[in-house]
Amino acid sequence: MENSANNNIIALRRLVLISIVLTIFVIGLGAYTRLTHAGLGCPDWPTCYGLLDVPQTSEQIAAAEKAFPERAVEPEKAWNEMIHRYFAGALGLFIVAIAFISIKLRIKHKTSTKTPLLLPLLALAVVIFQAALGMWTVTLMLMPVIVMGHLLGGFTTLCLLFLLYLKLNPELYNKKIEAAISDKAVTINSNAATQIKKTSSYQRFAIVGIVILTMQIALGGWTSSNYAALSCIELPICQGDWQNQLNFKEAFTLLPPPQKSYEFGHLDHHERLTIHVVHRLGAIVTSLYLLWLVIATLKKYPIRQVQISCAVLVLFLVTQVSLGISNIWFKLPLNVAVAHNLVAALLMLSLISLAYQLTQHSRGSCHE
Ligand code: HEM
Repeated sequence: MENSANNNIIALRRLVLISIVLTIFVIGLGAYTRLTHAGLGCPDWPTCYGLLDVPQTSEQIAAAEKAFPERAVEPEKAWNEMIHRYFAGALGLFIVAIAFISIKLRIKHKTSTKTPLLLPLLALAVVIFQAALGMWTVTLMLMPVIVMGHLLGGFTTLCLLFLLYLKLNPELYNKKIEAAISDKAVTINSNAATQIKKTSSYQRFAIVGIVILTMQIALGGWTSSNYAALSCIELPICQGDWQNQLNFKEAFTLLPPPQKSYEFGHLDHHERLTIHVVHRLGAIVTSLYLLWLVIATLKKYPIRQVQISCAVLVLFLVTQVSLGISNIWFKLPLNVAVAHNLVAALLMLSLISLAYQLTQHSRGSCHE
């Protein structure tokens, strides 16, 4: 009985790890699809012009254009969209398997093992909602709030899977941190040792960081879904009389007036400029907060494991800001824009990992 539980847990860990890698890939594919303007490459959902793949022969293309006269077939764009859907579908199946194994473990091995159940079920709920958002992205013609929601849903799926992985691998941080604390307690002076044990409030600061970063990612999604990337083309400050052109009310209206399509944006220049400026200001606030968090945490936790996490966080932050600036400097090259999306995801994972470590540590110190 115990053996079979262990085997299931090992299988679950592997499945979750593969799903994390797959989610990052799907997030990248999603950005690639959007940036190659292939979001409407298939006018229907889940099929593409009524097919499971893309119309290719001249007969298929003629039939597709007869059925969907408003959208001429562009095979390259249709493939981008369909490949994103295939991988997202595979990810959905992986998450169903994760939820299934987690439920099975709970029912079969009630007393011996306590594997997480809420996280896999939440991931399943989010991925089902993501499928709906994917459909509305097409049927509501790239309405910005849906596109942004779809981006945030992808990030949420990734974060839930990552948290699940951390919970399924308690030895990743717990033991190392406990060992570090006991090591430090004897090798560093007693003041510092007391400091290590007193600092549970830092986990709250890390959670505030997660909230700020989430808002910044949402702003990024709003910038891209409203095609505001090149509304400010000068660095470091926007061109012209930008302060007098800001229009917050229209720029952040979530439900837009009905349009035939939102592809390439429906807002005017002033509104797009406002969105862009707010994303840049958001980057300053996010960077300052995360840097403060890193410095403060390093002072309070002179532990190697925490130092490594902080270094990784700073590395992703610097890369992310550089990619954001490159987006503007090089006028939104495809690879830079996709990388800006992916590094945002990695930055979030590194922050979650730090927050998790601080939580584990504060639990450890509470037990002492
Ligand atoms: C902590 C810092 C930052 C984070 C977390 C962040 C995050 C994001 C995210 C998630 C997107 C959406 C990407 C997509 O939809 O594919 C985005 C878009 C964008 N960001 Fe940032 N960003 C940051 C800093 C910056 C900075 C410093 C700049 C420029 C000075 C910048 C410029 C842009 C631009 C121009 C876009 C639109 C790109 C597009 O249309 O694909 N970002 N950002």
